[in-house]
Amino acid sequence: MTKLPRIVTTVSMGLLLLVGFCRGEEAKLRSDQDGLALTPPMGWYPWNEFGQEPQNEKLIKETVEALVRSGMKEAGYTYIGPDEGICFSRNASGKLTPNLARYPSGLHGLGDYVHQQGLKYALYTDAGTRTCSKAMPGTKGHEFEDMKAFAEWRADYVKVDWCNTTGQTPQTAYPKLRDAQLAAGRPIVFSLCSWGQGQPWKWAASVGHLWRTTADICGPGKASWTAAMKNVEANEKLSASAGPGHWNDPDMMITGMSGLSEVQNRSLFSLWCMMASPLMAGNDLRSMTESTIKVLTDREAIGINQDPLGIQGRIVRKDGAAEIWAGKRLFDGSQAVLVFNPGEAPAQVQVTPGDAGVEESALLYVRDLWTRQTSGPRVGSIRVTVAPHDVAMLRISKTNSFPLPPIIVADSYRVAFHASGNSTQKLTQAITVKNNGSSELPLWTVSPGLPSWLSVTVTASGKTQTFSNKASIAGLGRGHYHAVVKADNREPISGLPMSALYYDVDLEVSGAAGGPANN
Ligand code: GLA
Repeated sequence: MTKLPRIVTTVSMGLLLLVGFCRGEEAKLRSDQDGLALTPPMGWYPWNEFGQEPQNEKLIKETVEALVRSGMKEAGYTYIGPDEGICFSRNASGKLTPNLARYPSGLHGLGDYVHQQGLKYALYTDAGTRTCSKAMPGTKGHEFEDMKAFAEWRADYVKVDWCNTTGQTPQTAYPKLRDAQLAAGRPIVFSLCSWGQGQPWKWAASVGHLWRTTADICGPGKASWTAAMKNVEANEKLSASAGPGHWNDPDMMITGMSGLSEVQNRSLFSLWCMMASPLMAGNDLRSMTESTIKVLTDREAIGINQDPLGIQGRIVRKDGAAEIWAGKRLFDGSQAVLVFNPGEAPAQVQVTPGDAGVEESALLYVRDLWTRQTSGPRVGSIRVTVAPHDVAMLRISKTNSFPLPPIIVADSYRVAFHASGNSTQKLTQAITVKNNGSSELPLWTVSPGLPSWLSVTVTASGKTQTFSNKASIAGLGRGHYHAVVKADNREPISGLPMSALYYDVDLEVSGAAGGPANN
């Protein structure tokens, strides 16, 4: 390995290649370059419940604990971090500096904490001069240095807002930020937040992985069913623009916030699942009711959302007030159908095989995902009665098997080696990655191009795979070494690629270890 500056951060060759590739011809999809967000991102952002207050490190850490404790992590929720939580300011020389009063571990330290819990780190900024509340600087004129700061803080997801953007257009501002992210060399899920301005669904698939299609679903702490339904109405019309790696985002969810009934909580979640919308929870996870936990962690509903085909369902027919949502074929050939009753009286609806996209004569099994009942084999229409604001969420299949798509859960996304000893020391640390879907996955394939001090092997035992990371400090001088490991896999039933898995490896060589300091 070539000589490195004294305290040095290295990136893996894989990432260097990524940057090189990105400087070439513009790819069709941003996700073609990084393999990220091939199913809708799942996670938590604080804005809907908390606004800026009382956002701080304590809230984020308590929420991480609650997310793990409640079973949300096991259900697939991964991305978490402050939204506009007054995280940083810009110093006199133009560099972003963390707000240590609110985030005493610093933004890098908070990222490490999140990664060590097996979660991914989400940060927030703005494309204009200031963020919406004006409490934080925006990226305008500082795109490259700011995205470098986000990469150094190890963000895995960045939401970029659209406030204070006089004279800018989303069509030019966001691609510049994409270029800045690629130049920074860290794979990052890019969430555009122009609330539909500039119609990002028409052009942003090569820029980011998701884009807001609507205005805010609510002001902080003010969940509104009526406002949420407006977002659903607008987002529904855009179904053709969504797919793996490029999602319509009708905003963070309000499920579990005060102002919604239990029925509305479940219906909202079902609609987000059916629309293949990002499942970013927006409620206070520390004080959720059992009923909210049950809804947010429902494996079968999440299976509809996380389907590898990534089709956004749409309204195929209305029957009185009731809406029949379909057009969402799933990875095993089954079909998802949602009957939603936004009206104020119970609705009786006949779902025809045609609504569900299957032939009239087909012999079908029908699974009601919320009651967990399967009927069939049967032929013809399916009769459902749906209470006001409620849903019936069905999965319709020609076979009596309803497999769940992969849900990947890691025990950690960070390996940290500390070496001090003789110069031939070898260190090993493992991380485990589970699939909480139905299948046993093929072995993850680690991308080539790791730095010479790191090797990774993968072994499987049932639905858990172990990544053994070996660091060798022979020949390394004192300093800090860093690599990002990338691994790929395919969902075995559909053969479709799964979101790439990335994790950080840090190696600190200190004291008597290694050779002399490489300065
Ligand atoms: C905008 C966004 C919200 C939130 C706030 C923060 O309104 O749409 O989701 O990020 O800014 O100020």
